[in-house]
Amino acid sequence: MPIKFPFTKSKPKPDPQSPGLDYKQLPQHVAIIMDGNGRWAKNKGLPRIAGHKEGMNVVKKIVRHASNLGIEVLTLYAFSTENWKRPKTEVEFLMKLPMEFLNTYLPELIEKNVRVETIGDFERLPEHTKTAVQEAKDRTKDNTGLILNFALNYGSRYEMVEAVKIVAEEVKQGNLDVDKIDEGCISRHLYTADLKEPDLLIRTSGEQRLSNFLLWQLAYSEFWFTDVYWPDFDEAYFEKALYDYQNRKRRYGGV
Ligand code: FPP
Repeated sequence: MPIKFPFTKSKPKPDPQSPGLDYKQLPQHVAIIMDGNGRWAKNKGLPRIAGHKEGMNVVKKIVRHASNLGIEVLTLYAFSTENWKRPKTEVEFLMKLPMEFLNTYLPELIEKNVRVETIGDFERLPEHTKTAVQEAKDRTKDNTGLILNFALNYGSRYEMVEAVKIVAEEVKQGNLDVDKIDEGCISRHLYTADLKEPDLLIRTSGEQRLSNFLLWQLAYSEFWFTDVYWPDFDEAYFEKALYDYQNRKRRYGGV
């Protein structure tokens, strides 16, 4: 597969560049907690929403790059179930971002064979957000390239509670034996049922926690943290994360 973005960029970066990235051994599923938009904006004397807007532009860059690299799934934490607690104007802005993103970017996603998916409580999103995202899902549903998976109104504990309720109902109805409840059974009832578990989790902005993101699915993933705020994240940092991932030894509890 041709790599359209050169690995070494001309722009100097505070992190060292990572020569030797093996394009044949990339993680199949990368999940990202895109954090630091607000602090990035504050440092520049801008309103928080300016950070989210810039963050959206970084989403475009990273999606393009992940697609060119041949990564299979990119899951982006765009809005958590806890984010509703933010000021109304910020929530409204965040809820308009998918529409703005897709208005300008959907043709390119289609051209690049990207499939748009979501995880989270979709039904409780505002109508305009649902309409835009549903259109993108519908128009890309047959695409076979990168799965661009937005976590929208997503909370991992809520996801697990909902899964347990469905499983309990199946037992109650006599359709499932309690002894048949295993890890696979739980996995099949999560939003991510059809996806491989993430190989790599990236979190920007210096925070090192999961913030209710994919708690079940990240059980054996490699974690990669950077102090860089999401609006300053770019293809070179992304490749640095991929390179570091390739130099980890995944043992899955073995030796
Ligand atoms: C966390 O930073 C970021 C968010 C809650 C929103 C992330 C959204 C984007 C990056 C844009 C998404 C784009 C699309 C297309 C859906 P923060 O606001 O918590 O930053 P802070 O911790 O510095 O305050």
